[in-house]
Amino acid sequence: MKLGIFSHCIVGFSLITLLGAVIYLTSDFLGFLDLQKQLKNACVNNAGNEPQKAYEEYKSSSSSSSSSSCNLFSGRWVFDNVSLPLYEERNCSFMLPEFACEKYGRKDLKYRNWRWKPHECDLPRFNGTALLEKIRGKRLLFVGDSLNRNQWTSMLCLIESALGPSAPKTVVRNENMFLFEAIEYNATIGLYWAPFLVESNCDDPLIHHVKHRVIRLMGIDKHARHWNNADILVFNNYLWWMDPITIVWGSFGSSDAIYKRVEMRLRRYEMALNTWSDWLEFNINRTKTNLFFMSLSPFHKFGESWDDPSNCYSETEPILKDGYWGIATDREMMNVAESILHKLEMRGLNITYLNVTNLSDYRKDAHPSIYRKFFHPLSEEQLSNPISYSDCVHWCLPGVPDVWNEILYSYIMDF
Ligand SMILES: *[C@@H]1O[C@H](CO)[C@@H](O)[C@H](O)[C@H]1NC(C)=O
Ligand SMILES: *[C@@H]1O[C@H](CO)[C@@H](O)[C@H](O)[C@H]1NC(C)=O
Ligand SMILES: *[C@@H]1O[C@H](CO)[C@@H](O)[C@H](O)[C@H]1NC(C)=O
Ligand SMILES: *[C@@H]1O[C@H](CO)[C@@H](O)[C@H](O)[C@H]1NC(C)=O
Ligand SMILES: *[C@@H]1O[C@H](CO)[C@@H](O)[C@H](O)[C@H]1NC(C)=O
Ligand SMILES: *[C@@H]1O[C@H](CO)[C@@H](O)[C@H](O)[C@H]1NC(C)=O
Ligand SMILES: *[C@@H]1O[C@H](CO)[C@@H](O)[C@H](O)[C@H]1NC(C)=O
Ligand SMILES: *[C@@H]1O[C@H](CO)[C@@H](O)[C@H](O)[C@H]1NC(C)=O
Repeated sequence: MKLGIFSHCIVGFSLITLLGAVIYLTSDFLGFLDLQKQLKNACVNNAGNEPQKAYEEYKSSSSSSSSSSCNLFSGRWVFDNVSLPLYEERNCSFMLPEFACEKYGRKDLKYRNWRWKPHECDLPRFNGTALLEKIRGKRLLFVGDSLNRNQWTSMLCLIESALGPSAPKTVVRNENMFLFEAIEYNATIGLYWAPFLVESNCDDPLIHHVKHRVIRLMGIDKHARHWNNADILVFNNYLWWMDPITIVWGSFGSSDAIYKRVEMRLRRYEMALNTWSDWLEFNINRTKTNLFFMSLSPFHKFGESWDDPSNCYSETEPILKDGYWGIATDREMMNVAESILHKLEMRGLNITYLNVTNLSDYRKDAHPSIYRKFFHPLSEEQLSNPISYSDCVHWCLPGVPDVWNEILYSYIMDF
């Protein structure tokens, strides 16, 4: 099976745009401080496919359920253009041009209107003020690659839409760290760029297009010391491991460093995750920090997986076949990550695995394809064949990462 990856070099440059767009907080939002701690966590069994009906059932569902008693990852997608989208793309100050599909010309906008419906319950409706109340005085940090940035961006859009125009719009960058601060709540929601979790030559959050990826398997402190004081850590790690990788022993650039190309895809991933989990075991304060790990985000580069010769380009509908399991989902890589997490648990460190692979896998319609900003010039040849440069890896916003965040939200509200 071919598992090339979409050229990730380009995404980095987009953050320059983000930084350029930083707007300073102008008004307070005292009006939002009058809050009640309340989570309406609904549980019904029977949302239909008809939007208005589904919405009424959704709205009226009020009995309580929680992430612990309902498998949030097993369910189906329900068309719902009444309660969705949760925000408008153009209204989000934090939108990045690689996720802004509508702005970049996408005309079919139904991808914004699919709600994830777990079989046994409903996801609680995302409430940004309730979340900020819950994380008052705390630090929520996403650590990983551009898919985690996709999710972080979604989180900021969700929060901004809940708080309205007075929401803070500042993101401050300090090296690999991008911090959003909700000042009134003394809460931060950050993104830390570390595409391999361990040290690599792709660690520059803006310029990480390198020809040969080199990682230092044992090097994690350089990144991890910035994770230490987080209260909630959300990791992801998968995509960057798909390309050829060289491992360095010793430090980057030193004369006695040893470089070795390691072909064994699973083995090198496992070794890096071991470094990461050792760090967690010895450094995480178990009473303070909650840990999450996002399962791999599936991509739709191989249409044969749903009986189509092309990829996600021009797809406008999710896969609606129940029990679908995409061929491009790398089960072996998932197994490695899952077994590391399991071992961590045996070592007394709980980490919540958000198993969003399957639910995301249905959404072949939800990638930017050609409707995003590309940060390298497209050739005539590419332009004449849109399939060749379609981004089938990231996700349009609003869209699938909003659901990941709704799931994360339901766990956080349950603490
Ligand atoms: C959101 O949460 C806040 C604080 O808990 C609450 O006051 C508000 O009513 C909630 N909004 C909705 C739409 O449920
Ligand atoms: C929602 O979808 C239904 C069925 O596709 C359509 O008839 C209706 O016009 C849509 N409503 C809005 C507000 O887009
Ligand atoms: C988007 O912003 C406009 C203008 O501020 C506002 O009228 C509209 O309600 C917003 N839409 C959503 C879905 O938040
Ligand atoms: C803000 O939260 C931090 C912990 O994240 C705490 O140390 C600090 O005292 C808080 N500041 C205020 C003004 O509450
Ligand atoms: C762990 O976190 C708790 C709660 O924040 C704190 O009381 C405790 O001192 C911390 N322990 C260590 C070893 O830092
Ligand atoms: C994926 O989810 C669907 C719907 O919940 C389920 O029918 C299917 O068995 C799942 N696939 C796997 C491999 O778990
Ligand atoms: C980890 O989770 C298990 C089962 O949910 C629980 O019994 C245990 O107390 C947790 N351990 C810690 C350190 O929180
Ligand atoms: C994650 O989801 C996939 C697909 O539904 C399933 O095959 C796998 O067993 C799940 N992993 C765990 C640890 O639950």
